[in-house]
Amino acid sequence: MVDYKVTEISESMSFLEMMDVLNEQLVNAGEQPVAFDHDCREGICGMCSMYINGEAHGPDRGVTTCQLHMRMFKDGDTITIEPWRAGAFPVVKDLVVDRSSFDRIQQAGGYVSVNTSGNTQDANSIPISKHAADEAMDAATCIGCGACVATCKNSSAMLFVSAKVSQYALLPQGQVEAADRVLNMVKQMDEEGFGNCTNTGACEVECPKGISLENIARMNREYMKASLQG
Ligand code: SF4
Ligand code: FES
Repeated sequence: MVDYKVTEISESMSFLEMMDVLNEQLVNAGEQPVAFDHDCREGICGMCSMYINGEAHGPDRGVTTCQLHMRMFKDGDTITIEPWRAGAFPVVKDLVVDRSSFDRIQQAGGYVSVNTSGNTQDANSIPISKHAADEAMDAATCIGCGACVATCKNSSAMLFVSAKVSQYALLPQGQVEAADRVLNMVKQMDEEGFGNCTNTGACEVECPKGISLENIARMNREYMKASLQG
């Protein structure tokens, strides 16, 4: 851990803007800036992985680090910032971690095959209940940030994987590959070294998108069904 004193911070600044000010001060002083990840800065890309004062994405609820504001802290506060800590997310530098394990899980089954021959059925012609559509949409809001893993004492990726499985399991378009999807994604999750779920629920509390634990229950049902089919 390294101590830095940052000045000229307004309470309207986002946490990443505060980091920008810190890095500007460091560069002006001829020092190395602190490496951290970011892209969209509007809660969409899931890149800004920081563990702030012992909480993934900091003390606010339902926001990513880039949406966290300095008004959540008091003037003169000491803020502790760490990278995501999980064996499957190796630290690259400072606050930057390698989350390509999530990409490999997605590649193992997070897709549907679509007929592109020109005879593709219009998605709107397939009836889907409002309830299923809403639940699939809720699951699809997972941005793959990894806060669930970072906050879990087991470094479990079950909330992330279950969101990705659920967004298809709830829709007719996802049924064709459903069994392979859940088996392959869970297999990849295990191979990447993520821990198992012991139902503590910390992931749901820290998830910036409010992904529900119900998705984990659904994934377990899908997994059981696929195992019995196989
Ligand atoms: S489930 Fe939530 S915390 Fe986990 S990767 Fe998705 S958005 Fe981030
Ligand atoms: S920088 Fe994209 S979610 Fe924070």
